[in-house]
Formats: sequence, C-alpha cells, structure tokens
Amino acid sequence: MSFNPLAEKGIPLDRQLRSWSELNVQPYNKKEVDPYTRTRIITMNGIEVEGAFFSHQFARHTADLDISRQLAMVRRSEQQQQKAVNWLLPGDESALQTTIGYEQVAVDLTAYLARTEPDPYIKQAFEFGLLEDFDHLYRYANLLDMLEGKKAEDITGRLTEIMPGRPTAVEHRHPYDEVRKPSDRTKADPLSLLHVLTLVAAEQQTMNYYMNVGNIPINPLARGLYLEIAQIEEQHVTHYESLLDPNASWFEREVLHQYNECYLYYSFMQQESDRRIKQLWELHLNMELEHLRLACEMLRKYEDKDPEAFLPKDLPEPVKFETNKEYIRQVLANQVNLTGLGTEFVPVEQLPPDARYFEYQKIVNAGGVPSEQVIEQHIQQVGKDYRSETEGAHPIGSAT
Ligand SMILES: [Fe+2]
Ligand SMILES: [Fe+2]
Ligand SMILES: [Fe+2]
Ligand SMILES: [Fe+2]
Repeated sequence: MSFNPLAEKGIPLDRQLRSWSELNVQPYNKKEVDPYTRTRIITMNGIEVEGAFFSHQFARHTADLDISRQLAMVRRSEQQQQKAVNWLLPGDESALQTTIGYEQVAVDLTAYLARTEPDPYIKQAFEFGLLEDFDHLYRYANLLDMLEGKKAEDITGRLTEIMPGRPTAVEHRHPYDEVRKPSDRTKADPLSLLHVLTLVAAEQQTMNYYMNVGNIPINPLARGLYLEIAQIEEQHVTHYESLLDPNASWFEREVLHQYNECYLYYSFMQQESDRRIKQLWELHLNMELEHLRLACEMLRKYEDKDPEAFLPKDLPEPVKFETNKEYIRQVLANQVNLTGLGTEFVPVEQLPPDARYFEYQKIVNAGGVPSEQVIEQHIQQVGKDYRSETEGAHPIGSAT
C-alpha cells in the first residue's frame, strides 16, 4: 500500500489548535507500557522539539512578515504536538529511568536506520554512533542500579541488550574529528536525507535533556556521568548535522522537516500497540499533512522550486522499533576500535602518536572519568557490573 503525503488532505491549520485539557494527556503507566511505545514517544518529542527550534531559526532569518506569521502559526501547532507527546511521560518515572529510554531510542533507532541506510558512508557514520550510545545505556544502567536499586532491563524490556560498547572514556575526540562529509540533496537518495534529519533531532533532544537534567542529582558521580555523556551527545549532534546538505535553502529544509514528521507519524501509527497513543499519532499525521502542504506552497511561491525534486515519490518503508541484538553484536565485534580522523573512521591503533585525539583525551580525562568510576563503584558494591546479556557472552571476549 503506497501513501503519498503530498497528495493527502490534512486538517486545516485554524482547526489544529487544542485546549489545555486536551493537551494535558493521561501519562502512560510505567509498569505496563510497551518499551517501544516509550521509545516512539521519546523520538517524536525530539522530532517536535527540532521542528519548533528549526522554525524559530528560520523566522530569525527572514524579514518578510507573511513568512514569519505563517511560521508562527505552524510552530504553535508543533509546540502543542510536543506537549501532547512529551506529557505522556509519567511523573513517577525518574529522570534517570527516562534516560534509559533515551539511550534505548539512540540504540534501536540508530541500528534500524543503519540497517536500512542506502549510502555506505552514512551507514558507516550511523554504525559509528550506535556503539557509543550503546555504551551510554550500560553506564546509566549501572548508575540506576546503584542509586535506585532498579534494573534497567525492566525498562528496556530485554529488547535491547545492556553491556559495554565503545567505552565512553575513549569516545572523547577533538571537535575537528567529529565533522563529517556533507550530503548533496540533488544526488542523495531522499531516504538518506530523512534518516539523517531523524538522528539529528533525536541526538539533539538527548543532548538538551542531559544539559538540563544532569545537574539535578545530588550524588557527585551521577552529576559527573551526565555531564560527561552530555558532551558526547554534543559530539553526536555535530557528527550527524554535518551529514545534512548545507546548501539546502530555508524553504527546502522546512519542506524536508514537515515531510519527515509525516513519515515518522505514519510509521509509528502503523506499529503502535497502544490504541490511545496510535490515535494520537494518527491525529498528528493529519496535522503534519497540512504543515507539509503549506511548506511546499512556500517553496513554490518564494523560490519557484518543485518539492518533488528532492522528496520520495511515495513514503519509504515505515521506520520500525524492533530488536537489533544480532546486528549490534556484529557491529560491536567489527568496529569497536574505530575513532574519527577528519571526516573518516579509522582504527585507533592507526592514529599517529601525535594525533590531536590523544591531546584531547589527556585534557578531558585527567583526574578520573565518571563513566569508568560508575562501573568501578558498582563492582566495589556488588562484586560485578550490571549487564543484561540476553544472547550469551559479550562478543569481544576481553571487554571490561
Ligand atoms: Fe509536528
Ligand atoms: Fe547517548
Ligand atoms: Fe548519542
Ligand atoms: Fe509539522
């Protein structure tokens, strides 16, 4: 069944506004929620946050009041969507428990997009990032066990394994080695453009989240772990955003954002197991169809460009949250020793001894590394680290 969002009719913009009581949704029950319903919610929150902030940046770069007014109108709707989505998270889920959900998103979303990514360089970039968020999940899971006596596998539902990835301590690279080669929208597969935009939004929201909740704990080790991983999320945003096409115009970017929102709401609506939340995805899809129509109208009016030139003919295969255990184990076994060198990925052993990587490592890792300390403390307290290895021993025998 094909679905072309450019040909579908949505909800008119003036009928999209909702009341406070409608937006103040009933949160999910954290004991009963499907872990992938949680990850879909976290993903769509990140997508809406990017939608709103992108629109603000666009507005700051135009002097045309008609454009600013239309952006403000659509943005108000995006902001209402963000509230309806993010308010599904319940107040009795601690920030650290939600953090496990954020890293599960980073792992299974990145793995799925890598598996389905047509461009070999972009696929490599996704697999590179994947192993790092996979390690974050393990570090936070150990913190969760120590601080709250809770097992992260009860949040991830054992759909995602929890064990060391590329150790966070070695992920700290010089900023120059985080900048990748940009895409060219006139040549790229449209699916690649959508994949990259999705990961930019997801990683950016993770970065924002740690920037804001990382100073809430009293425990100094918890504060340290959040700030250390928050800096990696800054690297990840740099890494993914540098894959976007820097020559796309503001109007083209607006179209791509709205198209991607349609794509993801459509995808998650297909997959959603919770009936009430499925209805929300469907409602938001119908709003996005109108956002997309308006964005395409602006592109034609102000730049005389055809949106079909860089969009897919029909929606690509839906994005799915599903378990990626075997795939991740393979990537882990083959790529754990990679680091960044300029725009490329190379085994760390191949770096020259005077590489800027080592200089950067020396500065930031001086005086102790929270992501190592959290494991050391867990071992001190319980005799071993916390893991959820559902498919057998770690694929790299010597892993800590
Ligand atoms: Fe939206
Ligand atoms: Fe992460
Ligand atoms: Fe990340
Ligand atoms: Fe939108």
